[in-house]
Amino acid sequence: MIKSIGINKIQISVFISGRGTNLKNLIKFSKRKNSLININIVISSKKNAYGIKYAKDNDIKVKIVNFSKHNDVMSLLKLLKQNNIKLICLAGFLKILSKKFINKFNGKIINIHPSLLPKYKGLNTHRRALEKKEKYSGCTVHYVNERLDDGKIILQKKIKIYKNDSIKTLQNRVLKEEYRLYPKSINKILSNY
Ligand code: GRF
Repeated sequence: MIKSIGINKIQISVFISGRGTNLKNLIKFSKRKNSLININIVISSKKNAYGIKYAKDNDIKVKIVNFSKHNDVMSLLKLLKQNNIKLICLAGFLKILSKKFINKFNGKIINIHPSLLPKYKGLNTHRRALEKKEKYSGCTVHYVNERLDDGKIILQKKIKIYKNDSIKTLQNRVLKEEYRLYPKSINKILSNY
C-alpha cells in the first residue's frame, strides 16, 4: 500500500517543549477522514521532551532547535519554508518567538493557553486561578505575537471551577477542553485559507 504523505493537505508544524498531549491529540485530529491538515514536522525546544515520542510513533519528522541561537532559528525558518509549512501550532512550547520569526509567519502562528485570556498569562495558571477563588477557568487559542500569551483570540472555552477542585482536577478538566478547542480553532482559521 502506498502511504499517504498528505501532500494535498495544509502542511503544519507543531512546536513543543514537554509532555506533548496536545500534539498527540492534534496528530489524531490530522488523521481523521477528510482532515485538512498534515503534521509535517514537530519542533522541540528540548531534546528530551516526552512529546517527541508521539511524533516518532507516527513517523513525523522531529527537529530539536536551540531557540537561544540565532543561527539555529534562521535554519529553522528555512526548514519550515522548504517544507511548505503554512501554519505553526504552539502546544506547550515554552519559548517566546522573536518578532523577526513571527513576522516571517505573519498571522500563521497560534498557541493554546490554559486560562481565560487575558487573565493568567504565563505559567501556573490553575494554581493562580484557584488562589484567586475564581468561579470560572478555561482555555484559549490565540494568534501569537511577540508578547507572552497575547494576540488576537480565535476561540475560548469557559468551564466552571468547583469548590473542591485541586490544581490536578482543574488541569485535567481544562485539558479535556483543550483537546476539543485546538482542532476546532484550526478548522476555524483554515476556512479563511
Ligand atoms: C497545556 O495546558 C497548554 O495549554 C499549555 O501547556 C500545556 C501543555 O500540555 N500551553 P501538553 O504538553 O500539550 O501535554
